[in-house]
Amino acid sequence: MNIQNNCIVIFGASGDLTHRKLIPALYNLYKIGRLAENFSVLGVARTEMDDNAFRQKMREALIKHEKANGESLDNFCAHLYYQAVNTSDSQDYGKLVPRLDELHDKYQTCGNTLYYLSTPPSLYGVIPECLAAHGLNTEEYGWKRIIVEKPFGYDIKTAHELDVQIHRFFEEHQIYRIDHYLGKETVQNLLVLRFSNGLFEPLWNRNFIDYIEITGAESIGVEDRGGYYDGSGAMRDMFQNHLLQVLAMVAMEPPAIINANSMRDEVAKVLYCLHPLTAEDVKNNVVLGQYARGEVGDEQVKSYLEEKGVPSDSNTETYMAVRCEIDNWRWAGVPFYVRTGKRLPTRVTEVVIHFKTTPHPVFSQNAPENKLIIRVQPDEGISMRFGLKKPGAGFEAKEVSMDFRYSDLSSASSLLTAYERLLLDSMKGDATLFARTDTVHACWEFVQPILDYKANGGRVYEYEAGSWGPKEADKLIAKSGRVWRKPSGQMKKKI
Ligand code: BG6
Repeated sequence: MNIQNNCIVIFGASGDLTHRKLIPALYNLYKIGRLAENFSVLGVARTEMDDNAFRQKMREALIKHEKANGESLDNFCAHLYYQAVNTSDSQDYGKLVPRLDELHDKYQTCGNTLYYLSTPPSLYGVIPECLAAHGLNTEEYGWKRIIVEKPFGYDIKTAHELDVQIHRFFEEHQIYRIDHYLGKETVQNLLVLRFSNGLFEPLWNRNFIDYIEITGAESIGVEDRGGYYDGSGAMRDMFQNHLLQVLAMVAMEPPAIINANSMRDEVAKVLYCLHPLTAEDVKNNVVLGQYARGEVGDEQVKSYLEEKGVPSDSNTETYMAVRCEIDNWRWAGVPFYVRTGKRLPTRVTEVVIHFKTTPHPVFSQNAPENKLIIRVQPDEGISMRFGLKKPGAGFEAKEVSMDFRYSDLSSASSLLTAYERLLLDSMKGDATLFARTDTVHACWEFVQPILDYKANGGRVYEYEAGSWGPKEADKLIAKSGRVWRKPSGQMKKKI
């Protein structure tokens, strides 16, 4: 699909996301010729700056993050513009009108505009209203789309309020809620793996699957985002959005066709089937943790409470593990163990499908478990683990693996990053990989009892940085006689 000429307006242009992710993604798309023939980027923030100063800042960011140089860097930067706006003052948005008119004219964009809200969430409701006050939301002259970064609300109530506020000025088809996990090639591949192979899907249900583990582990701490993170925690930062979206990709029914509505209908259906947690369930099925000092790799690291921007008595969770169930025919009785945390031993996101064992043990030892390990990142790939006869006398079984790695694909170097893919899709008007309002609400509904538990003094256990989380998380999974996998940074296991 061709991309129509357009103007991308980035609110929060002096922020971290803009220079670390958005501008580099646009630059890379430009370099490979995937942007519209005529495009412009208008940075908007409070800081007074002219076009040249903004270009210089973005140029430095591109040199730093992308090792950019040469003609393509100069040419790309010539498409960048800047407008200072006091984003809490509706009147001030009037400055955007002549600026956008000029850019639409110069780049023959027919008024097509993509607004990207990369600002503090407190402005998510304000910006649409202020744009509307100057007629900048109407689609009479070109399309108008608005990309909203997470968090979409702070809990179920504020998520509803935010939705109502944005919907007063933009219709659902204009709203693109970005969850960068859906932009990851390996997350999208979950669908292709499941629905383009006759091999896996017949086994993908309660009859053959014993349980499923989903892990989103990070070895980094909160870095310089302590202020933001402390109001968010692992639940809002990773679980409510990224990991529940991954769970939906693993558990959803096949869509009739791949388009935005059909896909998101299935995502919403499965998320609404998550078994609601009562206050009692939360105590038994959820473990929250916070990292203490420890060693990650060879580095001695601070505790969460010693991080910059974090109050010394904070009760914010940097780890959570949850046992979820899905109330439908496919998944009844199959537990999904989902965990995420910072300052764990390594960075790894993976989904592990644990298949049931054989009905009767023929050989003397227990046969190795059959597992399908889907490595989302890093060392992206898929590993099938099963038992084979150990060569030699007798019938001893040992685990072997069949592995696929993305890095072996000849096209691996041309894979788009998550932001590149999602920015491109939003310019094409394809919302398939963006969260729809009902899917976001389904996630909040599931999470709300855990938020309530926490707000009512629910326990947050300490864990040593560099460990796999609090002991209580091991006990959680051990209740059913299972153990968490302890994945390494590398997928391939020596056999
Ligand atoms: C972000 C969270 O949405 O996702 C961060 O705010 C987290 O805290 C990041 O580190 C993880 O993303 P990725 O792509 O590195 O797994």
